[in-house]
Amino acid sequence: MWWWSPRYPFSQYLITLIEMDRKLVQQGAEARLYSGSFYGRPCMVKERFSKSYRHPTLDKSLTSQRIKGEVRAMLRCRTHGIPTPTVYMVDQESSSIYMELIEDSMTVRQHIADTQQQYPEDAVERLQPIAAEIGKLLGKMHSNNIVHGDLTTSNMLLKGWVDERPVIVLIDFGLSHFENLAEDKGVDLYVLERALLSTHPGTEDLFDTVLKYYSATNKKEAVEVMKKLEEVRMRGRKRTMVG
Ligand SMILES: Nc1ncnc2c1ncn2[C@@H]1O[C@H](COP(=O)(O)OP(=O)(O)O)[C@@H](O)[C@H]1O
Ligand SMILES: [Mg+2]
Repeated sequence: MWWWSPRYPFSQYLITLIEMDRKLVQQGAEARLYSGSFYGRPCMVKERFSKSYRHPTLDKSLTSQRIKGEVRAMLRCRTHGIPTPTVYMVDQESSSIYMELIEDSMTVRQHIADTQQQYPEDAVERLQPIAAEIGKLLGKMHSNNIVHGDLTTSNMLLKGWVDERPVIVLIDFGLSHFENLAEDKGVDLYVLERALLSTHPGTEDLFDTVLKYYSATNKKEAVEVMKKLEEVRMRGRKRTMVG
């Protein structure tokens, strides 16, 4: 077989093997996600595809930057004790990141929706520990100057519970950057607020909890980030009023 050829690089052989048994699990606007295995470990492959409306050279370079940024942010989070999937391998040729598959997890979005459906009376009360954990993680992330860029409840995976404390894994760092500006951190929180309230109506109290724990964790910057968040909200409101 051609891939047994000694001139065929081992990494390529490995990729061929992984590709043979992978299954498409999600097709997004920018990437396809496959599940498979990597050296016998459950693996998720995130493959970015090209955008036909972009110039091919520009597209290649943007995609490549996105991948580098995503991997860098994931590693940086892990260095600071913020759970993200372990990165196994990057293949720029196919614009793919091979990472740990977070097994038996569900998105926080799904968990909130399920809880709201199952316990319409006291869903918010039951979800408080999740909001507290999100606040802590984001506080830690921002105090290390990592701005996520796309904070939604779909980009957080609930992996399970340890001593009644939820284990949440952050994913999808393709729009992240390193920044110590309070403005960018305020925008990051605003994006989450909009996503949370529009996807899960009636969760204002949960966002308050996120902010409470965020502030307790990112003490040094809390006041300034909250001020920026308020400014961004005002701008948002003005925009909706104008049209
Ligand atoms: N490492 C992972 N383990 C388990 N599920 C994952 C993992 N990475 C992504 N997913 C699932 O795939 C979905 C899309 O992945 P994501 O990185 O957010 O890509 P997109 O840019 O398309 O939003 C996530 O919402 C989650 O359900
Ligand atoms: Mg996503």
